[in-house]
Amino acid sequence: MSSDPRDQEITELKARIRRLEETLADSQSLTAVGELAGTTAHEFNNILTLTINYARMGLRHKDDETRDKAFNKILDASNRAAKIVGVVLGLARNRKPGRQPTDVTSLVEDVLLLLERELTKYRISVERKFEPVKPVLANGNQIQQVLINLLVNARQASPNGGRLIVKIRPCEESNQYVEIIVRDFGTGIPQEKLPHIFDAFYTTKQGPDETGKGGSGLGLALCKKIVEDHSGKIRVKSSVGKGTSFTIRLPLAPTTNDEE
Ligand SMILES: Nc1ncnc2c1ncn2[C@@H]1O[C@H](COP(=O)(O)OP(=O)(O)OP(=O)(O)O)[C@@H](O)[C@H]1O
Ligand SMILES: [Mg+2]
Repeated sequence: MSSDPRDQEITELKARIRRLEETLADSQSLTAVGELAGTTAHEFNNILTLTINYARMGLRHKDDETRDKAFNKILDASNRAAKIVGVVLGLARNRKPGRQPTDVTSLVEDVLLLLERELTKYRISVERKFEPVKPVLANGNQIQQVLINLLVNARQASPNGGRLIVKIRPCEESNQYVEIIVRDFGTGIPQEKLPHIFDAFYTTKQGPDETGKGGSGLGLALCKKIVEDHSGKIRVKSSVGKGTSFTIRLPLAPTTNDEE
């Protein structure tokens, strides 16, 4: 019988946990937007400096070759600016909770573009190993959030810079899933700590780094929640001194046939 006061208490506590999880997801995604705003401002400053200098060069030198070079540099910089604006606007617009058929490759590319500056600053190069995959059923904004958390963790685990591998591939075990893998060659995670890394508030970091990231212990907890809400899976493999790899598995979007 459900008149047991403990049952009621449990129901209330569960509802409270759910509300807290929603608040957490919301504030994490706002933090990401804030971080991106900062990154974007820096990036734009660079682009403007470049554009101004090449415009000056084009005005100073009248020969065709120099002018063509200046115009091409200005065009490249402007295209890059337009692309960044597109991604940021997309992120801001895409904050609704629904899931759509989503192209994983462009999602990953957008995140890498947004983090490019940060990764370069910490001397981290990204190796892309993208296989062709079908669209997944996902909330693009939330999956980008997951990828940002994983990439920032990977960067923070590589204090001397280094290499990251980002892989996209069809899942080998089931053809109904796509896998995204983020692999670093950083510090690795000791075996006894691995069971805790997805726990909320579990962190080994002293606090936020100079970019204001890390140390709350919420990143992976949120990643797990988002991926599992998508009926997906997140797994980790790690070895101290060798590095860490996170695999996210996401379900394919139903094809028109499946929907019938
Ligand atoms: N790629 C990685 N390499 C090594 N350790 C990692 C890696 N990713 C996560 N960890 C470990 O797992 C812990 C939890 O990660 P999580 O992202 O949840 O929190 P955080 O990075 O400490 O803080 P934040 O919530 O701000 O991201 C980290 O403190 C770190 O010890
Ligand atoms: Mg983190």
